[in-house]
Amino acid sequence: MIIKKSKIAVIGCGLVGSSTAFCLVTQGVCDEVVMIDINHDKALGEVMDLRDTIKYLDRNVKIKAGTYEDCTDVDIIVVTAGAPPKPGQTRLDTLDLSAQIAKSIVEPVMKSGFQGIFVVVSNPVDMIAYLIYKLSGLPKNQVIGTGTALDSARLQNLIGDMVHVDPRSVYAYSMGEHGDSQMVPWSTVTVAGKSFYDIIADNPDIVGNVDLDEIVAKTAKEGWEIFSRKGTTYYGIASACVGIIKAILYDENKIIPVSTLLEGEYGEEDIFAGVPSILNRTGVADILEIHMSKEEHQKFNVSANVIRDYCKRLKKYYE
Ligand code: 2OP
Repeated sequence: MIIKKSKIAVIGCGLVGSSTAFCLVTQGVCDEVVMIDINHDKALGEVMDLRDTIKYLDRNVKIKAGTYEDCTDVDIIVVTAGAPPKPGQTRLDTLDLSAQIAKSIVEPVMKSGFQGIFVVVSNPVDMIAYLIYKLSGLPKNQVIGTGTALDSARLQNLIGDMVHVDPRSVYAYSMGEHGDSQMVPWSTVTVAGKSFYDIIADNPDIVGNVDLDEIVAKTAKEGWEIFSRKGTTYYGIASACVGIIKAILYDENKIIPVSTLLEGEYGEEDIFAGVPSILNRTGVADILEIHMSKEEHQKFNVSANVIRDYCKRLKKYYE
C-alpha cells in the first residue's frame, strides 16, 4: 500500500496566491504544492523563490510549477486568479472579468479529471464560488469560497482590541456577502462564552457607548483601509484560506464562516453566502444554522439578496 501524498494546487501566482503558497510551505501543511499561472514563468519564479525556504523549515514540502493538466490527482485547488478592483470600484464591479477568468480555469481543470475540492478566493468571492460550483458540476460540499472567514477575523480583532482580550478568545461571525452588505448576528457574539451584550452592560466605562453598526461598517471597510495604504491585501486572506485548507486536510470538523451553497438555510437557496460551516475531509460537511433575532435574520436576507442579484448575471457563463 503506497501512502497518497497530499497535493494542493494554487491557481493564480499573484500576491494572494504566492502568500497562500508561502503559508502552505512554511507551515508544512501538505506534501506538495503546485503553482499554476497563465504566465508560466511567473509560476516558475514563485516556485524557485519558495524552494529557497526549505533549508530553514521543519518540513521539505515539494513545490513545482504546473499546468491545469497536473490537477488530476490534486486534493485541493485554491483559485486566486481574478480581476483586482480599480480605484473607486467595489469587488462587485469586477464580476464579469473575474467570471471569464474563472470559466477559463474550471473547464481545463475538470478536463484533467480533477475530483477534489475547490477553495475559491477570487472576488467577488460569493459569486465566483457559485459560478465554479455551476461550471464544475462538483457536489456542493466540494466548492468552498473563503466567504466571510477573513471578515470574521477582522471583526474579532476589533472586538478583542475594544475589550483588551486575545481576538482568538472572541467568538463572532460576520455573515452574508464578503462585501458591504455583510452582517453580524450580535446576539450570538461572545467573549470566551460571555455574551457581548453582557460585556457591554458590565463595562459601561470601556464599551458603554459602542455603536455596533459602526463596528460592522468598519469590519466591511477594513479591506479598503488596507487597499488604500498598500494597494492590495494578501496576508489576511492567505491565512484565512490556509485555515480552511487545514480544516479540510486534517479532517478537523472545524467551524469557519465560509461561502457555501444555501439550500433553505436562513430561508435562502441557490446562492453562496458566508455562514458558519463545519469543515472536514469532505469539504463543507454541514452548515451550523445559528438562531438569530428577527432583525438579524432580515439583515442576512438583505445581504443574500445582494448576492442573488449578482449571481443572476452569471447565467451566461454556465448555461
Ligand atoms: C479582502 O477583503 C481580499 O477581499 C479580500 O482583503
